[in-house]
Amino acid sequence: MAKDKSKQTPNDSHRVATSGDIEVSTYLEIAKEIGGEQPAVAKEAIPSAEREAIIVIDFGSQYSMLIARRIRECQVYCELVPHDTPWKKIAPLNPKGFILSGGPASVYEVGAPLAPAYIYESHLPVLGICYGMQVLTYQLGGQVIPGAKHEYGHAILHLSDVDSPLFADLSPSSPVWMSHADKVEEMPPGFTALAYTENSPFAIMGNSEKIFGLQFHPEVAHTPEGKTILKNFVYRVCGCKGNWTMSSFINDSLSRIKRQVGKGKVISALSGGVDSAVVATFIHRAIGDQLTCIFVNHGLLRREEVERTFNVFRLNLGMNIVYVDASERFLRRLKGVIDPEMKRKIIGEEFIRVFEEEAKKIGKVDFLAQGTLYPDVIESALSGSRASAKIKTHHNVGGLPAKMTLQLLEPLRDLFKDEVRQVGLALGLPEEMVWRQPFPGPGLAIRIIGEVTKEKLEILRAADWVVMNEIKKAKLYRQLWQSFAILTDVKSVGVMGDYRTYGYLVAIRAVTSEDAMTADWARVPYDLLARISNRIVNEVPGVNRVVYDITSKPPSTIEWE
Ligand code: XMP
Repeated sequence: MAKDKSKQTPNDSHRVATSGDIEVSTYLEIAKEIGGEQPAVAKEAIPSAEREAIIVIDFGSQYSMLIARRIRECQVYCELVPHDTPWKKIAPLNPKGFILSGGPASVYEVGAPLAPAYIYESHLPVLGICYGMQVLTYQLGGQVIPGAKHEYGHAILHLSDVDSPLFADLSPSSPVWMSHADKVEEMPPGFTALAYTENSPFAIMGNSEKIFGLQFHPEVAHTPEGKTILKNFVYRVCGCKGNWTMSSFINDSLSRIKRQVGKGKVISALSGGVDSAVVATFIHRAIGDQLTCIFVNHGLLRREEVERTFNVFRLNLGMNIVYVDASERFLRRLKGVIDPEMKRKIIGEEFIRVFEEEAKKIGKVDFLAQGTLYPDVIESALSGSRASAKIKTHHNVGGLPAKMTLQLLEPLRDLFKDEVRQVGLALGLPEEMVWRQPFPGPGLAIRIIGEVTKEKLEILRAADWVVMNEIKKAKLYRQLWQSFAILTDVKSVGVMGDYRTYGYLVAIRAVTSEDAMTADWARVPYDLLARISNRIVNEVPGVNRVVYDITSKPPSTIEWE
């Protein structure tokens, strides 16, 4: 029955983030292509109407978003949509082909999601992956049965001796990642088997109508030639040209922002994080002084963060910035609060209050810029069709006032995080800022267990500084999704010199992840941990013990609160 339901690929989470990684040289090329720090001049912007797209129909697989990312890495625009999306929403995207994702259902279950009729009626190429292949089989007259044994993990794919456009540049045999229980027993009429594995005689099937099915997952890293298959599908089967590049996106978006804003005024919150930094720079590039950024310092930022952010935006980029030091105000409101959700709520509310007060002082404003990314868009589009429990109330500096009657400007809503980084570099933002690890909106408050005080903030900042420093020196900063310190509310006895100490316990957290939905604790070298621990107990007054967090997500979360 259920096949890839919440099954984590064990090694996936061990890998340091590679999927979205793009060589620095590629960034440099992009930067050069659009003129580095010079304003990007719209030469050959691709109007949205001409932008070719591949549409991924989501059946609920944990890998659905990954498929879309892989396609984008092939420089073809790709959108992930719920399986019941009507054709009228798809048609304007100029689809060149469809991919049906995997999913946890079984095609014979009552209410199992199936492909809408337009998938077959449009006569566009279709690639069904795992459950997507079973959907094709079921709807086109083949037979799917519960597999005698679940096939989960590596298998070797052998290509049959036939010609297929999917096979260009593939090895005759290569490893693939399987994760399914149901299997295709009988292919639909007109289909031939193109490849097999030990347990799946129809590991790849296809017909002359350009409809293909893959029983394995080409999108995951454990299928090393999977990206080639996807690339063959989009280029050789769907005929895409590959016009989704960051330079075309930037050119296109700059003109769109100019048109949309006209002579209006825009405000944006600045936090020092990658998304808000790229949004601000992007909009500033389009409309210059019509943009004002509001930088609320809630006093929960890391060491030197305020200065660095300020220097980049005010001094280097010459933006209008309203800087508000609201740290005392936040600390007052957090006094005595130990409940994590309460901390988040207070910080979120206070942030909006300060932001609104400052925005009012600016006078008439027409637009609010937000760093909404494509995963957020997908998340809200899919949330109706997927069950999700609330674990934490996320506060994002982007998630701003519901009350303010402003139009939204969301220039990054089509982009994945790695694409946002490419845009940031191409717009001339410093690498250090573009490659900054994610930092939560409520800042250090959710890394201090128990009450947040000035003293504890100072201790955590100092410990965090050591961690960041050492991780960077070890050249691990970019490979890790996040690495940071937590100040626990545990105190323990130690000995320094000949004296007894009674000090705080600091925990170190370093994780690898693709998207923060799952994460694994990073296997950083012991020597590095030893250096971090030594430095913290020697350099940070009040701390006499350091531990390393070796839990993955799930069952833990990345942040401690
Ligand atoms: P958890 O702790 O839920 O975190 O595993 C997942 C990712 O989200 C970040 N995070 C936040 N980001 N506002 C944010 O902008 C928040 O309130 C928030 N809480 C957690 C966290 O750092 C990790 O990258």
